[in-house]
Amino acid sequence: MKLFLDTANVDHIREINGWGILAGVTTNPSLVSREGRCMRDCLTEIAGIVSGPISAEALSMDTEGMVREAHELASIAENINIKIPMTSQGLAAVSILAKEGIKTNVTLVFSANQALLAAAAGATFASPFVGRMDDIGNRGMTVVEEIVDIYDLYDIPTQVIAASLRHPMHVTEAALAGAHIATIPYDVMVKMVHHTLTDIGIKRFLEDYEKIKDL
Ligand code: G3P
Repeated sequence: MKLFLDTANVDHIREINGWGILAGVTTNPSLVSREGRCMRDCLTEIAGIVSGPISAEALSMDTEGMVREAHELASIAENINIKIPMTSQGLAAVSILAKEGIKTNVTLVFSANQALLAAAAGATFASPFVGRMDDIGNRGMTVVEEIVDIYDLYDIPTQVIAASLRHPMHVTEAALAGAHIATIPYDVMVKMVHHTLTDIGIKRFLEDYEKIKDL
């Protein structure tokens, strides 16, 4: 499972990219607005840091507008793919963009049937939002499991991005479910590094080395 960072914060992207583990970035309008920056500038800077796929969201609600925005966003950098909302207009846009060779990430997916439609339209990625389903009392990871099983069963090339992940257990569960990608918020990525026993172990090794270092 590849690890993407779910943020538009370039400092966080630079830091995690420095770990050597970052395979891509996903953004959305809420994440960019949190940075108080213009979308294009933000995406240009992210593309200068990350060589893997970067998702940028189209905001039009009509097919023609989505396709026009996709062309503008895709012109920023060759590794930018276009987040398209899971609507009938969005499916039509995905199908047009697929024929043009522009990669898409169908976003706001909440069911296996929506993921089937996204794949049939030619989406490169489909993003089930796990945390938002958990929020309303449905187990979000079940939908990820169903989508992965169906895509496997029919050799569907669309990649599943487990999104709206809120804590480290979501990442483990996404990996066990067979998601191709987990897109992870910065704070969750940082939590994944740490374990109390690792900290205790390092402390103990350093203390023991102090006893022998002058021998
Ligand atoms: O990748 C989608 C993600 O940004 C949504 O997360 O926490 O707003 O549901 P959240």
